[in-house]
Amino acid sequence: MTEQSPVTEATAKAVPALPDAQTVTAVTHYTDRLFSFRVTRPASLRFRSGEFVMIGLMGDPHPETGKQKPLLRAYSIASPSWDEELEFYSIKVEDGPLTSKLQHIEVGDQIILKPKPVGTLVHDALLPGKRIYFFSTGTGFAPFASLLREPDTYENYDEVIVTHTCRDVAELTYGANLIESIKQDEMMIELLGEENLAKIRYYPTTTREKSAKMGRITTLIENGELFTDLGVPPLNPETDRAMVCGSLAFNKDIAALMEAAGLHEGANSEPGEFVIEKAFVG
Ligand code: A2P
Repeated sequence: MTEQSPVTEATAKAVPALPDAQTVTAVTHYTDRLFSFRVTRPASLRFRSGEFVMIGLMGDPHPETGKQKPLLRAYSIASPSWDEELEFYSIKVEDGPLTSKLQHIEVGDQIILKPKPVGTLVHDALLPGKRIYFFSTGTGFAPFASLLREPDTYENYDEVIVTHTCRDVAELTYGANLIESIKQDEMMIELLGEENLAKIRYYPTTTREKSAKMGRITTLIENGELFTDLGVPPLNPETDRAMVCGSLAFNKDIAALMEAAGLHEGANSEPGEFVIEKAFVG
């Protein structure tokens, strides 16, 4: 006679029920629209800082068959390639198929993570230069949270200009905290070097709430305020490189500005002067 062991909540959580399951190790909520979380990293997963993976949860059971299908979306990995865990930065959309559920994850829960990293926001897709711009809006900051903790970023460039535009000040928190922590954390200082961290020029702007610097970054590029504020020359294809991550409309507008300044879009197969990736929304 066999006796089945009772399935308690603890054992149910400990045994991966999903293929490609990873366990949530931390969750931080910033606003009613934004949160970040960390999960365990599959031992075999190698990626380049700036790449993305497909992550998600099981969808609702089919009304007739009861079968569940994975609900997956592309998420930039916000942690650097050397980190033991993986970090993600996400929007919460009330009726978003994935984020309406994902926003409720807690430490110990499991998510699905397909260990096949890809993406164009990688150093390999850019030609050598002197100054790199990271242009982001909203959760488009995520790949730069990874790249800002990657030693190559500082080895490759003399200046690292990070722009982040959000509707209000609270939405800047994740990025602001990250930059602050990189500059203060002893492990980071040792890994990246104090003189390298001094290369970071952080330029946050808001569009719907009053703050120290207001306006869409596209406007601030067009009217030249970005360059005057930072005391740097206008965009120059000889020296300047850019990585761009935000909404489709944002990416399109920035791409037009980069091209007008003589920079050409690059890819893994053919490095160029700027690269673009869409931040996941929904
Ligand atoms: P705005 O408030 O003027 O729309 P969202 O939260 O909607 O994703 O937007 C994030 C930030 O990106 C907002 O500050 C928004 O400004 C800005 N933004 C949206 N679209 C563009 C665009 N096409 N060019 C520049 N900035 C944009």
